[in-house]
Amino acid sequence: MTPEEFRIAGHKLIDWIADYRQGLDELPVRAQVEPGEIKKQFSNLPPDRPENFDIVLAELDRKIVPGLTQAQHPMHFGWFPSNASLASVLGDITSSGLGTLGISWESCPALTEVEEVVCDWMRQLTGLSEQWEGTIYDTASIACLTALLVARERASDYSQNRAGLQGCKKPLIVYATLESHSSIAKSALLAGFGKQNLRMIAVDPTTRSMSSEALAMQIEKDISKNCQPAVVVATAGTTGVTAFDPIAEITAIAGQYRVWVHVDAAMAGTAMLLPECRHLWHGVEEADSISWNPHKWMGTILDCALFYVKDPQYLIRVMSTNPSYLRSTVDGGVTQYRDWGIPLGRRFRALKLLFHLRLDGPDAIRERIRRDMENARWFAKQVDQETGWQVLAPVTLQTVCIRHHPRGISGDALDTYTLSWVNAINASGKAFMSASKLDERWMVRVSIGVEDTTRQHVAELWRLIKHYADRPGTDCF
Ligand SMILES: Cc1ncc(COP(=O)(O)O)c(C=O)c1O
Repeated sequence: MTPEEFRIAGHKLIDWIADYRQGLDELPVRAQVEPGEIKKQFSNLPPDRPENFDIVLAELDRKIVPGLTQAQHPMHFGWFPSNASLASVLGDITSSGLGTLGISWESCPALTEVEEVVCDWMRQLTGLSEQWEGTIYDTASIACLTALLVARERASDYSQNRAGLQGCKKPLIVYATLESHSSIAKSALLAGFGKQNLRMIAVDPTTRSMSSEALAMQIEKDISKNCQPAVVVATAGTTGVTAFDPIAEITAIAGQYRVWVHVDAAMAGTAMLLPECRHLWHGVEEADSISWNPHKWMGTILDCALFYVKDPQYLIRVMSTNPSYLRSTVDGGVTQYRDWGIPLGRRFRALKLLFHLRLDGPDAIRERIRRDMENARWFAKQVDQETGWQVLAPVTLQTVCIRHHPRGISGDALDTYTLSWVNAINASGKAFMSASKLDERWMVRVSIGVEDTTRQHVAELWRLIKHYADRPGTDCF
């Protein structure tokens, strides 16, 4: 494709995207397709000649859009918001269009230095002190894995330079809670700690936050058994009920034993744009690393996960590579992000944050976040006031966990009932929520925060919920 052909096709594509976004609320929220239905529309043989762009574009409407669960739909209340602000989409397109290669400072100085700039802007916008330095990863999962790898090496006095974990005399221990994201346990296993060295610390039964007393006792117990505490993962905003672990208490305990503290704020990092929310991660300055996803609630299109450390030397010591073909005369005087993480090649992700912050502006983002929190409180109030309905956990940010208890239904029958009404709503395409388990019983998470979701949409959701909960087998107009 020549630049001129690209220009013509690109204009059409941008128009198509704008139309798609404008008409999004007319589409069913959840994809109404059966498994395999999308795949079977494509030939199982690869193309054998170039095709016209218009044909490919037309196929987006016919073959791709029906297979999308519309994360940007204002009636999407599932999982966590995965906003893709159009300002950040422009940044993402720019990143692709520039076709840069990020493998060293020299391979694209702007890529490195804009990343430094936007990470520092985000540091300031979330009230973190100057002691933090950041980078952009693809996901919070990779950030957590990286934190655990670094913590492992620090705790084992850099065993990677000797026999690795296989030469360690003491088992290294990771601490988290059962409320922490599944990526934490996965990271602990991938980083070689082993399942039996992953301690799930008790949580407060109401707030679901890690019990710092239980953590302190477990660390003491592990030390007495000749184990070595290595890292605590504290979550700011858990996936299930948006619980906040007591970071100040956790860092105070961890500090006594030189245990690394990683703060997983994948979801709640966005809330830290609001000064009034920062008490929720009080103590964060004493942690060793923090990760959070602008690609969730804040709305910088996937993939955009910030990872901050106080001392990048810990990353560099564990992950630095310096092959001859990547050396240049500026080495030592510039940031080499390849030494701050696992991959060598990186995209110019900083552009989507740059575009998002400059085109939408932090004030508009803050206003939207405050709107979502108010909508969540309003929704929780409606649920609380309705007989038989229950809000199951404190509404700290924008997620409201609910259950309906019709008289005479309990135990497994209650689970079946809960799943029946939420599945009926999701299947209708009118709204989407995710069911999840709390204390082994199904509940429904109403996660408010799509960019276009207004109070009217939340009120409509509540109408749908009450309708389907009363009459799961019927349609609602
Ligand atoms: C608290 C928490 N941590 C980590 C993750 C993983 O995020 P990612 O998809 O960026 O790996 C999630 C995802 O929802 C999350 O809620």
